Amino acid sequence: MKAIFPTLLVISLVSAGTFLELPEQLGQQVGRSCVPNPVFNIQTLDVEPWPPTNNVSLAVNMTGTFSANTLLQTLSVGTNYNRQQWVFTNTNISTTYAKGQVSTFIIHTNSGTQSGQYLKEIVLSNQDRNGNFVFLSCWQFDYGI
Ligand SMILES: *[C@@H]1O[C@H](CO)[C@@H](O)[C@H](O)[C@H]1NC(C)=O
Ligand SMILES: *[C@@H]1O[C@H](CO)[C@@H](O)[C@H](O)[C@H]1NC(C)=O
Ligand SMILES: *[C@@H]1O[C@H](CO)[C@@H](O)[C@H](O)[C@H]1NC(C)=O
Repeated sequence: MKAIFPTLLVISLVSAGTFLELPEQLGQQVGRSCVPNPVFNIQTLDVEPWPPTNNVSLAVNMTGTFSANTLLQTLSVGTNYNRQQWVFTNTNISTTYAKGQVSTFIIHTNSGTQSGQYLKEIVLSNQDRNGNFVFLSCWQFDYGI
């Protein structure tokens, strides 16, 4: 699973200019997609508490729809502090979702203990038969504490 780290970093940098700017309609909705044409189309992503404060558990509600029958293998949460290196935690999901299925993922992640700028990235992925990671969705949001 170590291979996911550089891959995700590259994707993050490459996609920086291609963010889909979604209107932030809900009070708590934050962030933007970081892959084009995701298989998991995120409709809402809410973070509580918002704005984050120092060293609290953030509850992220990521709700969307799968546009195809999909094996979701891994949910990854990346944290980037002051534009230094990314740190990812991976959770093994190994669940198949049906086309059109609406799904909610509730993710808990620490806001961070040092004051500064944070970028969080949430990625759903699986691997093709050659072991390459395939991104089903990627979402980033940032904040300062
Ligand atoms: C963060 O919060 C936890 C749990 O309340 C506490 O144990 C820990 O000491 C805190 N860390 C810092 C750096 O404030
Ligand atoms: C997560 O967000 C969805 C869409 O806004 C909402 O219907 C659902 O109640 C939320 N779940 C929780 C546990 O907050
Ligand atoms: C993930 O979980 C599935 C089902 O429990 C298991 O078969 C698979 O080996 C696990 N994958 C990893 C990378 O741990």
